[in-house]
Amino acid sequence: MATKSSETKTLEDLLEHGLKDMYYAENKIVKSLEKMVKAAEDEDLKAALEEHRGETEGQIATLEKAFEALGKKAQGEKCDAMDGILKEGDQLLADFKGSPAGDAAIIFSAQAVEHYEIARYGSLRNYAELLGEDEVAEMMQQILDQEGAADEKLTDLADGGINDAAAEGMEEDDEEDDGA
Ligand SMILES: [Fe+2]
Ligand SMILES: [Fe+2]
Repeated sequence: MATKSSETKTLEDLLEHGLKDMYYAENKIVKSLEKMVKAAEDEDLKAALEEHRGETEGQIATLEKAFEALGKKAQGEKCDAMDGILKEGDQLLADFKGSPAGDAAIIFSAQAVEHYEIARYGSLRNYAELLGEDEVAEMMQQILDQEGAADEKLTDLADGGINDAAAEGMEEDDEEDDGA
């Protein structure tokens, strides 16, 4: 893409750029999810993250098929946005490890990843549709559905006790003499 001058860039170029961006991102996300699975204390959270790690491996394969459908070589392109989100996630894992808010912090990081993915795959699906690349549009929708479901599951886990446990942990620290 560097060989093309900016005046001639098309939506097709943007679709290809986005695919490269997500191919790079998903390969990094697999590794981040592995770390989150190890760090999670809540068994349901651990299972949800592990399930999504498996889905993410499938998404990498789907992206390869999308490149193929467009007659392009599957390759990644450094995504500064995802690097930043994952770097912050690593820092939060280290900072909150073993704390009452540890699992809440994992969800906090994981949902930032999911929302970025939802934004990008939504755009890529729309571009593919506009370009008449129906097969690619379907693949993007399939990934988008998985990202959306993963995000919802994380919200359910956060609301279903993990955030409460983190809040209670804080109260215990604050009210040591309470005896309650
Ligand atoms: Fe993903
Ligand atoms: Fe995801």
